Amino acid sequence: MKVGITGAEGRIGGYLRAGLDAGHEITSLTLTPQQFESTVVDISDAEAMSGVFYGLDAVIHLAGDPSPAGSWESMLKNNIVGTFNVLEEARRAGVKKVVFASTNHTQHGETMGDSPNVLGTSQRVMLRLGDYFNPSSIYGASKATGEIYGRLFARHHGVQFVAMRIGAIGDDDSPVRAVGRPSEDYVRAMYLSRRDLVTAFQKALEIDREFTLAYVISNNGRRIFDLRETNEVLGFYPQDDAETFFRAE
Ligand SMILES: NC(=O)c1ccc[n+]([C@@H]2O[C@H](COP(=O)([O-])OP(=O)(O)OC[C@H]3O[C@@H](n4cnc5c(N)ncnc54)[C@H](O)[C@@H]3O)[C@@H](O)[C@H]2O)c1
Repeated sequence: MKVGITGAEGRIGGYLRAGLDAGHEITSLTLTPQQFESTVVDISDAEAMSGVFYGLDAVIHLAGDPSPAGSWESMLKNNIVGTFNVLEEARRAGVKKVVFASTNHTQHGETMGDSPNVLGTSQRVMLRLGDYFNPSSIYGASKATGEIYGRLFARHHGVQFVAMRIGAIGDDDSPVRAVGRPSEDYVRAMYLSRRDLVTAFQKALEIDREFTLAYVISNNGRRIFDLRETNEVLGFYPQDDAETFFRAE
């Protein structure tokens, strides 16, 4: 399959470029020139986007501002306008599918907070994909907006859309960096290992569905996202569990 990756120079972009099936022909799209071959384009510039997706079967859309503390100006430009431009250009180019890097933050209105009061074991909640948006930040709301545009393009413009509500994946593949920090409970619930990330995106490229929502977290013992629908529709059964690392500490 011919697969374009926006934000290919980023953290997740690097993991996917390295990890996706060798059978895929990857076209990297980046904001600035890189050591590796890439098409340089700012996704917030609709004119500059013209033609960049021609010939591709699918686009993995990672480019954007990933900061939960990011400003409205940045969210509007990079996440909302940028995602709209990606979808519109995919439609024009006849790309069959867009796999979108959405986020756990679309649903953290009640559950996002410092440890141990919110995600601690005494406060177990189990959220489902169908629960209404409950963003905890302008960032979360910008990704929810991307999902809504994805639904529009899937239903009315023939572009399949897979919204990947990604958990927490950092530079380090181990979650134990969070021990004793305010983010510990959050990381224990939201940890995503690199191999689970790659498996989930691989599955997203393989499925043939108009519109799909999925949780992309590891099989964490302290997860607050119900993985059953994701298991079923995406065929994604994560292998890792943050608790394994914490027990080893
Ligand atoms: N890392 C996580 O834990 C996590 C969790 C949930 C969702 N996500 C989402 O996954 C995606 C990738 O995250 P990451 O951790 O690799 O972040 P990252 O910052 O490492 O990568 C994002 C890339 O997007 C590029 N970019 C930003 N604005 C752009 C624009 N206007 N035009 C073209 N390129 C642009 C940047 O140059 C950057 O390399 C983001 O959309 C993020 O919101 C990440």
